Amino acid sequence: MAVDAREKLIVALDVPSVAAAEAVVERLGSSVVFYKIGYQLAFAGGLVMASKLIADGKQVFLDLKLHDIGNTVEKGVQSVAKTGATFVTVHAYPQTMKAAVAGKGESNLRILAVTVLTSYDDADLAAAGYDMDVPELAAARAQQARDIGIDGLVCSPEEVAKLRTIAGPDMTLVTPGIRPAGSAAGDQKRIMTPAQAIEAGADYLVVGRPVLEASDPRQAADGIVMEITRSKK
Ligand code: C5P
Repeated sequence: MAVDAREKLIVALDVPSVAAAEAVVERLGSSVVFYKIGYQLAFAGGLVMASKLIADGKQVFLDLKLHDIGNTVEKGVQSVAKTGATFVTVHAYPQTMKAAVAGKGESNLRILAVTVLTSYDDADLAAAGYDMDVPELAAARAQQARDIGIDGLVCSPEEVAKLRTIAGPDMTLVTPGIRPAGSAAGDQKRIMTPAQAIEAGADYLVVGRPVLEASDPRQAADGIVMEITRSKK
């Protein structure tokens, strides 16, 4: 299904309050149609705001990274599906992923799995009791996600090409770590420009600070959409 370039840009509402988030949305106007709400805003009234955004015709990605016993995940995802959100994240444990797929039922909600948190290195995995390195565990979980019927994966731009070979053409790959040419990397270490990430096979780009901290956020968002439109994909 062809997705309009504007819909491929997901702006992360990484702000502390609904008032701050509403100011961002107001400023971005029709330039941005897709927003991501994570822990910071979700636990500060962001879930109510999500419903309002959806009622206003925006799409919402709830980055809640769910993980619990299967029954709890399934019921939680049923509730998320009722909000009309487009994406929700879960950690890529098989039981959690199966429960999330059951919970979304016939709704339009799409489940995205986080394979291995990008803040984890091999030593963190060993400390957590895993006998695999990061690439091995990420690949194994991507394969399990695909087999379980998960809709997509969140991954760094560098992983996109490799994960596409595992995920196949139908899974949705969503990538943060995007920096338009000339913008500050911040704490992101593995970055690509919007065009590079799309050309590597990403379906959606999550962008926070390069838009939120721009002197003209709307112009920054329009610039990213323009880059997506011009990418060779
Ligand atoms: O400000 P910036 O563009 O770096 O924001 C990226 C967004 O993507 C943030 O909401 C961050 O939590 C999220 N994210 C990330 N790296 C991951 C997973 C999610 O930067 N591996």
